[in-house]
Amino acid sequence: MGTRRPRIIAALAAVSLAAACSPGGDGGDGDTTGYPEQNITIVVPFSAGGPTDTVTRMIADPMAEALGGKIVVQNVEGAGGTVAAGQVAQAEPDGYTVLMHHIGMSTAPALYKDLGYQPLEDFATVGLVTEVPMTVVARPDLPPATLADLTAYVKANQDKVTLANAGRGAASHLCGLLFQSAAGVKLQEVPYQGTGPALTDLVGGQVDFMCDQTTNTSGQITAGKIKAYAVTTPERVKSLPDVPTTTEAGMPQLQVSVWHGLYVPAGTPPEIVQKLSGALQKALADQAVIDQMAELGTAPVTAADATPETHRAHLEEQIETWGKVIADAGVQAS
Ligand code: MLT
Repeated sequence: MGTRRPRIIAALAAVSLAAACSPGGDGGDGDTTGYPEQNITIVVPFSAGGPTDTVTRMIADPMAEALGGKIVVQNVEGAGGTVAAGQVAQAEPDGYTVLMHHIGMSTAPALYKDLGYQPLEDFATVGLVTEVPMTVVARPDLPPATLADLTAYVKANQDKVTLANAGRGAASHLCGLLFQSAAGVKLQEVPYQGTGPALTDLVGGQVDFMCDQTTNTSGQITAGKIKAYAVTTPERVKSLPDVPTTTEAGMPQLQVSVWHGLYVPAGTPPEIVQKLSGALQKALADQAVIDQMAELGTAPVTAADATPETHRAHLEEQIETWGKVIADAGVQAS
């Protein structure tokens, strides 16, 4: 369990202070029976309107209903999700500050020399949420028609092709690294605060291509506003039946899907973690959530996976796996 650092961000401190002053709840007396007694904030580490935000807002209301409280979603952008994670790591461990994060929680230790937090020590896991396929997508008028054509095109135009991502450590960054490694190219990367704004620029033709989650790209692919070359999963995605897998398209090395999970600061009372986990399981069983996720190419995890134990085991395994992949790819930590 991590040592609490003295600095607590102002926005979150107000929430935590109010909790400490309220009776019942976890007001410092260890009694958690009244939880929640005030708004819970789920911090999203990327822009509003992007894939992480979309998934968070899908589950926020059903979770709040299950808890008998209110949940506010707050976007804290920056540095591929590490700014938000760093802030939540330092928040009061009272159950009123929750982090939604994705695969980036497991890649950041290998990508950042001075991360400022340790995923396994500074957080308690609440449960996994979903696992989202990625798509390789491009501005509508980029010349290549297939993934093989795209590979040839980027090789021939390395000095001018732009690859968007949501910053070092973001899923789009990781997928972009795997693409470049598979294609044997080094491209000019354009970082955004999230793939929500990156997608807007892709539709507008300001950047050439990117890897992004189906929860963000499905609508624009279906509407014909962007080109889709491949999905990065072994099977095709039901809601995008015409988009081939990377294996079918000739780039089997490009395999990545983006798992999401909820976290609270280490030291949060286990009863509160269990309440949050139970609410998450109820939200993921909600038919409206299942339907919305299916439309965007994904699905909720099972109730067994939406538990602190399974989530923690997955995080441990993923830190090890991606640490090796990133080291083998020769990516420098910054
Ligand atoms: C987002 O919500 O913007 C993302 O999950 C970005 C990413 O990780 O690529």
